[in-house]
Amino acid sequence: MLKVGVIGCGYWGPNLIRNFSQLSSTVVKRVSDLDQARLKRMAELYPGIETTTDYRTIIDDPDVDAVAIATPVHTHHGIALDALNGGKHVLVEKPIAASIEEAEELVRLAGERRLKLMVGHTFLFTSAVRKMKEIIDSGELGEIYYINSQRLNLGLFQQDINVVWDLAPHDISIILYLLGQMPRCVTAVGASHINPAVEDIAILTMEFSDNLIAFVQNSWLDPDKVRKMTVVGSRKMMVYDDVQPTEKIRIYDKRVEKPKYYDTFAEFPYSYKYGDILIPKINGAEPLHAQVCHFVDCILNDVEPITSGKNGLDVVKVLDAAQRSLDRGNNKIRLR
Ligand SMILES: NC(=O)c1ccc[n+]([C@@H]2O[C@H](COP(=O)([O-])OP(=O)(O)OC[C@H]3O[C@@H](n4cnc5c(N)ncnc54)[C@H](O)[C@@H]3O)[C@@H](O)[C@H]2O)c1
Repeated sequence: MLKVGVIGCGYWGPNLIRNFSQLSSTVVKRVSDLDQARLKRMAELYPGIETTTDYRTIIDDPDVDAVAIATPVHTHHGIALDALNGGKHVLVEKPIAASIEEAEELVRLAGERRLKLMVGHTFLFTSAVRKMKEIIDSGELGEIYYINSQRLNLGLFQQDINVVWDLAPHDISIILYLLGQMPRCVTAVGASHINPAVEDIAILTMEFSDNLIAFVQNSWLDPDKVRKMTVVGSRKMMVYDDVQPTEKIRIYDKRVEKPKYYDTFAEFPYSYKYGDILIPKINGAEPLHAQVCHFVDCILNDVEPITSGKNGLDVVKVLDAAQRSLDRGNNKIRLR
């Protein structure tokens, strides 16, 4: 039985505690938070769980094999570093760290210590995103022209990060997974309305090779909750709407073609195809369950996680480029 400690019992941490507690292969031995009231609530929900305001108690416990970290982003690096130095496998929430240097240090240390380092890019564990990858890889959409991703809602305003570092890790991790490549350049435009130092709306442009482009729009200032991604290909188009309860993906047999031969310049040279719409069946299992199962499998079977530390670093490289673009008057930033 794998013994797990969870650090951070705010909004997201209790979901990790619940999912680890439901597995037959793991037991949540200890949890930590700075807030006593949150620890009291966890102790009520999970009798026998040991609570502490000092996360080092978890790391110093030789009985604990792995830790999951769901604390604010600026604390990820320090806590994950301590955990790896303490010999624990680490699952850290997204984004893996607040800078490229921090993420690189974690990846290096995990490699040296031969410990698993995994990042909580939860959407890569959804059946919908897995299905989209399958469809793109099958060639059904043809050559991918562009992706447009929107992640909008009212709040939740974060103290230590802007809307890009908060919401875009999801869009970026999905896009990198679907396309299997890193962008060459990133441009970002954003603005701050509520807290003058923190962007609350932003649009990122990620330019890949071969004229392939991805747009990501993030907002904490939108009346609607929007979680929508459109993938446009040369043969078909696909829309993923995560807010839909069941019919999350639609494949549109729509395209536009420039005919090879046409008689005169007066003749309109484009033809539009309007075909059927297909809604593939998607399994509705909780992605966080699949994520914690994968973490445990990787530890027990010595396998590299799909959302490895390296994958977390790739996402941070894109976030870093977006931040530099925001800081430098929306310049186009070539990825380091
Ligand atoms: N994968 C997802 O879909 C998803 C969803 C939401 C949040 N998250 C991520 O989870 C992390 C936490 O987000 P949240 O919304 O739960 O934040 P939160 O502010 O609600 O909770 C963070 C908790 O960490 C505690 N904490 C801070 N420093 C600590 C320390 N040194 N030791 C112990 N506890 C400490 C705080 O007291 C707080 O209770 C972030 O990285 C966020 O990006 C991921």
